[in-house]
Amino acid sequence: MTYDTSLADGFLSRLQPPVEWVDDHIEVIDQTLLPDELRVLSLHTVDDVVDVIQRLAVRGAPTIGHCGALGVVLGMTALADTTADECRARLNAVASRIGSARPTAVNLNWAVTRVREAATRGQTAYEIRELALAEARQVIALDRDACTRIGLAGLEELAGRSRLLTHCNTGRLATAGWGTALGVVYAKQAAGEPVEVYASETRPLLQGARLTAWELLDAGIDVTVIPDGASAVIMDGGRVDAVIVGADRIARNGDTANKIGTFTHAVVARRAGVPFYVAAPMSTFDPMMETGAAMVIEERAADELRRWKDRSTAPAEVPVWNPAFDVTPGDLITGIITDRGVLKPPYDLSIPGALGTAPRREHHG
Ligand code: MRU
Repeated sequence: MTYDTSLADGFLSRLQPPVEWVDDHIEVIDQTLLPDELRVLSLHTVDDVVDVIQRLAVRGAPTIGHCGALGVVLGMTALADTTADECRARLNAVASRIGSARPTAVNLNWAVTRVREAATRGQTAYEIRELALAEARQVIALDRDACTRIGLAGLEELAGRSRLLTHCNTGRLATAGWGTALGVVYAKQAAGEPVEVYASETRPLLQGARLTAWELLDAGIDVTVIPDGASAVIMDGGRVDAVIVGADRIARNGDTANKIGTFTHAVVARRAGVPFYVAAPMSTFDPMMETGAAMVIEERAADELRRWKDRSTAPAEVPVWNPAFDVTPGDLITGIITDRGVLKPPYDLSIPGALGTAPRREHHG
């Protein structure tokens, strides 16, 4: 596939990145405050990094990977009098702490592991930190490029489909580029094609209503927020040409973990005859996972459902189950739009093919 990747350039050049290395620290957009306030936080320690990832000030699978990757560099700062072996021990400890800050998005541990493996080759504390920083920057640059390619692959795949429903936030706040699912939206805009988005609000933390609506309005794209529960009536009514969502982890058979509520949209889309697409970089595939059954699903605090800021949204004592993600079975997914093209069923053949690994076969007898 060859694409004119300059389509993304104008769009990207005017953005404040969600995560950035500045001088000797990390700067991030605090996504908990949007859309009321665009505030940039400075992170100076590994504790700061783990904190912003866990309270979703920094969120979205690729972006938490970028913050984690740069967090490893922070953990390797001010170690001038330390031997290379002591540095490597610290590198391993920091990488494992940051890499496990959230369990579901494979991108976090993937990015942190890349940085750890690159840095461990250094012979001095200085070299180890420099190698870590170079690799973290490379991870971010690769994601930016992957987003452009996803957007352009989606532009081709979804030609003529202009009314798109999406869930959660998969755009410039969630990646180093113009996004994954939203990258397809931005690619349509950049190509001068009509595009109109239904953003489901994404309970309980409203990444769709707060973040997707904010960034699409900012880009001048026609967006309408709907309650999560309205996806059946809007799809059944023939008002949606395709659903397109992101991913936090994709198994070798196409089972896809993404923000809670994604599975519901996929079931509705199948019933309504609407194609359902996942858009994700190859770094979101987990080559070790055969199916979604073994995916660890993050469960979050009960008060995310019981309270909104200083107000109760449920009785204080009511039991709550608050899974942050669900797993959509691969057989509900029409196609997976990646930086290596659009993967189609059967996924147990197309995904290993794209990963460059042979499909695993059952051995009988
Ligand atoms: O809990 P979040 O906000 O980090 O969840 C994010 C999602 O589920 C996104 O859809 C996914 O990470 C893809 S972002 C390109």
